[in-house]
Amino acid sequence: MKKKIYITRKISNQFIEKYADKYDIEMWESESKPVPRDLLLEKAQEVDALCTMLSDKVDEELLAKQTQLKVVANLAVGYDNIDVLKANQSGVTVTNTPGVLSDTTADLTFSLLMATARRIVEADAYLRAGKWQDWSPFLLAGSDIHHKTIGIVGMGRIGKQVAKRASGFDMNIVYHNRSRNKEAEGELGAQYLPFDQLIQQADFIVSLLPLTDETHELFDSKAFEQMKETAIFINVSRGAVVDEKALYEALKQGQIKGAGLDVFTKEPIDMNHPFLSLDNVVLLPHIGSASTETRSNMINLCLENIDAVLSGKEALTEVK
Ligand code: DGY
Repeated sequence: MKKKIYITRKISNQFIEKYADKYDIEMWESESKPVPRDLLLEKAQEVDALCTMLSDKVDEELLAKQTQLKVVANLAVGYDNIDVLKANQSGVTVTNTPGVLSDTTADLTFSLLMATARRIVEADAYLRAGKWQDWSPFLLAGSDIHHKTIGIVGMGRIGKQVAKRASGFDMNIVYHNRSRNKEAEGELGAQYLPFDQLIQQADFIVSLLPLTDETHELFDSKAFEQMKETAIFINVSRGAVVDEKALYEALKQGQIKGAGLDVFTKEPIDMNHPFLSLDNVVLLPHIGSASTETRSNMINLCLENIDAVLSGKEALTEVK
């Protein structure tokens, strides 16, 4: 009997063709809507492998129900949706997609930083609304990016690629991380700073932190109070590293100048979310790694991980 794989979104058949003889592959019917929880729990009991999205919770409840599950391949580098410890205790290997998305996510991070600093979204809306009647010296004037200080919080693979882009803009690069990144220091001249010093000194504070107990709401009212009034905060990691109420107040009171956010505590956000009432924030629907090429590479990596584990080999990118 063929081993079973369940993919929690509809993906093109071109990705699964080469595995079709070897495995019994099923997918959720929708490309855009998440698999219903009940169905996910049911499938977890029946299959040998799950390919999950960051919106699927692989928690104690799911893991307690599984009987033959060997691997959960998460289509993301972040894996805060998965209880890795419990999975490993139940003999389930967890994999993610590091490396293949670093450049793409760094591109998006830098685009969001630039869009926020130079008020690109606001300017586009201004023109479309027919408000552009005259040129004037400070019309939609934003903040410079070049020669400013960027503070990268979370200097992993993506952080290093963001630093590389920042160095092309002649920025002064400071960073904070659990451990020192000697490569980024040597190759890019990034300077390590304690968290409090970084948030006080940086003109752009960029969060690329994984969500853990330690990073949960690390950016709180105390953090925003310490930032410069001209500071711009960018978050492309996970929404819950930020206390959203505190960020809203900081933006509204002018404690900081602006924010660019690709991630939120609850996704998708409600259409009455307070951020939507602010002009000094650019909001994106979690598209950090969303280029066609990279999402294809991420899917391929998930399937390669599943194939490796189900063939008794070591996973390519296991979360440990
Ligand atoms: C990830 O891979 O964790 C990203 O958030 C997806 O865009």
